[in-house]
Parts: sequence; structure tokens; C-alpha cells
Amino acid sequence: MEKIVVRGGKPLFGNVEISGMKNAALPIIYACVLIKSKCVIENVPAVRDVALSLSILREMGASVRMITKNTYEIDCTNIDINAVPYELFRQMRASYYLLGAELGRFGRASVGFPGGCDFGERPIDQHIKGFEALGGKVNIENGNISIESEDGQLKGTNIFFDLVSVGATINIMLAAVTAEGTTIIDNAAREPHIVDLANFLNTCGANIRGAGTDMIKIKGVKQLYGCNYAIIPDMIEAGTFMIAAAATKGCVRINNVIPKHLESVAAKLEEMGVSVEELDDAVVVKGTDTMTRTSVKTHPYPGYPTDMHPQMTVLLTQVPGVSYMTEGVYENRFRYVDELRRMGAQIKVDGRTAIIEGGTPLSAAPLKAVDLRAGVAMIIAGLIAEGESEITDIHLIERGYDDIVGKLRALGADIRRTVVPNDDAVKKAN
Ligand code: UD1
Repeated sequence: MEKIVVRGGKPLFGNVEISGMKNAALPIIYACVLIKSKCVIENVPAVRDVALSLSILREMGASVRMITKNTYEIDCTNIDINAVPYELFRQMRASYYLLGAELGRFGRASVGFPGGCDFGERPIDQHIKGFEALGGKVNIENGNISIESEDGQLKGTNIFFDLVSVGATINIMLAAVTAEGTTIIDNAAREPHIVDLANFLNTCGANIRGAGTDMIKIKGVKQLYGCNYAIIPDMIEAGTFMIAAAATKGCVRINNVIPKHLESVAAKLEEMGVSVEELDDAVVVKGTDTMTRTSVKTHPYPGYPTDMHPQMTVLLTQVPGVSYMTEGVYENRFRYVDELRRMGAQIKVDGRTAIIEGGTPLSAAPLKAVDLRAGVAMIIAGLIAEGESEITDIHLIERGYDDIVGKLRALGADIRRTVVPNDDAVKKAN
């Protein structure tokens, strides 16, 4: 088992390069299942969820070749949908994109129930509603979801989602791209990764309009063709570095970003008194000693992202006065609060709102990454705490951050990744 050890008190200074966006790379990798030729995907982040997804495609029989660290050639010409071990599906959420992709390619699908971060109940009823509207017959049995369609051909239709769901929007796009006729997705998610997936599919010959708005129109095409495509930068990784710069009162230039995607985070930081300078493909964040309290509520894009929630709570512990963090997307994303309390943070949780009595110094503690974004928030807490903190369960952080330790060290952080000896090894040594 590995852990991250971080000694607080060093402001971050310098430049950091942002990797490709995990949440865009995953659907694009699964979208390759739709295509009976080679795709070359660039700017793929080196994160665990990507590696797992590529393993799933390999298990299905796809040829996956690493060309450089961040470029892959994927060829799904010969694949079998029943070849993936159940255990692989359980390790991540995005494996459910295979449902849409297999339906689009074969008119039927079979996938193990997905895993992913524990934020309370995470139903997939909207995905199922969409698949059924397209003519799929869904059967859930023994931890497996299988879907069949009449004559192996889905039929385009109008789908109105009851709530805004990134995953359901993506899954229906994948299934509808080769359906007969036109599909209209109403109340669609508008996240930049939805636009990135649409751009990838359109480059492969799909006919998708309106991605990035709440109504997406998909005219089914007979076939898709391979292409070369570069993934957009990761706005959550960029936002995480923005908050780390502000929290340590440093000054960091965050390169390879699309500043438009960072507006909700930048606006909140500016409201608190942090300086955020927007350049063409970079932002410069400069911390201050005089931040002011605020209230934050997470929303679907273009609102303040739920995936930037725990990082912001850590920052708010350093702001004098009472601040509020309200979770508007998930029913329970507050499991990290106990970890911060052990560092001296004064936080109460009332329903979906954390009430943060800010301006308290944090002291180092043994910390646990309870999920991906909570884990990175623990790193930020460690960067500002007095003393040396140890963070365990870092495989959860590595699901979505490409070389977070190396990037922070290059900015001057005192941080390292080490191996925790397991109990057996300790007993033997004694
Ligand atoms: C994706 C992101 C995740 C991010 C989230 C919200 C990936 C791999 N994951 O997750 O990092 O936190 O978007 O931006 O891209 N819901 C239902 N029924 C459904 C589907 C969703 O009730 O059928 C609910 C969920 O429980 C949640 C809300 O809708 O409360 C939003 O979920 P959704 O947008 O689907 O998130 P994911 O796609 O799972």
C-alpha cells in the first residue's frame, strides 16, 4: 500500500501543466467501441480510471497501443462484449458507458454493475429510461445489466431527462449515434466533456448538434470511421491547482487550460479576494492574506462543480468568519469532513450544507482519502497544516490525478509518495 506524506507551510510558486480531462477521456475511450477501425487519441491523462478502461477494451479483444505517454491507438474492429471480468466493472463508475457504446455498435449490451466514488445513492434510472425509449429491453440480474433491442437496431426518439445527468446524457449519445432516425435529448447535461465527446464522434462521422446546450439532436448515421483526436484539458485538475495556490498563499501559473471552463471557480475565488488573471490558455492565481467569507453551492455546469467541493471547503477553513458549502448534486459528499475536523477545522454539517467556522489553523494528522476529490482536498489540507500529514488510500486520488505529487513538488511543495509496509512485513521484521 502506498501513501502520500506532505509537510505543510510552503507556498506554491511556479508553472504547472494541466493534463487531459479524465471525464472526457473515459467516454471517448469507450466511444471507440462504436468504430470498426483505428482511432488515435492524444492528451490522454495517465490516471488509473483510464488504465482500467483501456484494460476493459483489451479484455474485449481491442488492440490498444501506447504511442507516447499520453497518446493511444485504439482499434475495436474485433471485439466480444461478453469477455470482461465482473471485477473490472466494479472498480469504476464510467464502465457503464459500455452500455451505450455496445448498444450503438451491436444493438445489444451486457455490462457488470458500475462502482465508483461513494456519495450516497447513485441510481442509473435515467440511463435506463433513455435506453428503453430507444427500444432497448433492459434486464438487471446477478449484478449484470443486459439490454437487447428488436432486430439489433435502436430507433431514434425524444427523451426528456427528469434531472440533469452527465452519465445519462453521454450514454444516450453513445447509443443514439447509430440509431435509425433522429434522437433529441432534452434537459441534457452541458458539461465541457459532453461537447468534447460530441466533437470526437462528429470527427468520426456522427451527426450531433447542440452539445453544450440543454437540447442535443442526434441524427443516426450508418457507420463511424476512425480519426485522430486530442482530449480537452481537465478543468477539475486546473481548479484544484487554483485552490491549492490560493490556500498556500502562493502564486501559480496554470497552463494548458480553457479559461472559460474555469469561470465558476475563478469567480468564487475573486469574490473571496484571491487574484485570478485570465490569459489565452492559462490562468495565474495569486493568494492573499485577506480572504473574505462566502457561500458556495454546487450545480451542474456552468455552475460551481461538485467535483470542486471538498477542495473549496479546505480553503474556507482558512477564511475568517462563517462560510457555507452546499452540495446541490449528490445526496452525501461530506464524508471528508471528519478528516478535516481531526486537523482542527471547525465544521458542522446540516443536511446538504457544511457550515465552516473559518480562520482556524490546521494541524497535521493521519488522513484518509475517502474518495477521489476528497483525497486531493486532503493533500491541500496537508499543504497548509503545521507538521507532517500522511494520507492513505491514495489509489483513489490516482484514479483521477496525473502525477499530482510530481506536479506539486515542482511548485515547491514538501510532498512525497512512499510505501506503507503491510502488517505481515512489519511482523516479520520484528
Ligand atoms: C459525472 C462525473 C463525476 C461528477 C458528476 C457530476 C464522470 C466519470 N463522472 O458523474 O465526476 O461528479 O458527473 O458532475 O464523468 N442521477 C440519478 N439518476 C440517474 C443518473 C444520475 O438520480 O440515472 C443523479 C445522481 O445520483 C446525482 C446526479 O443525478 O445525484 C448527477 O449525477 P450524474 O451527472 O449522472 O453524475 P455521473 O455521470 O455519475
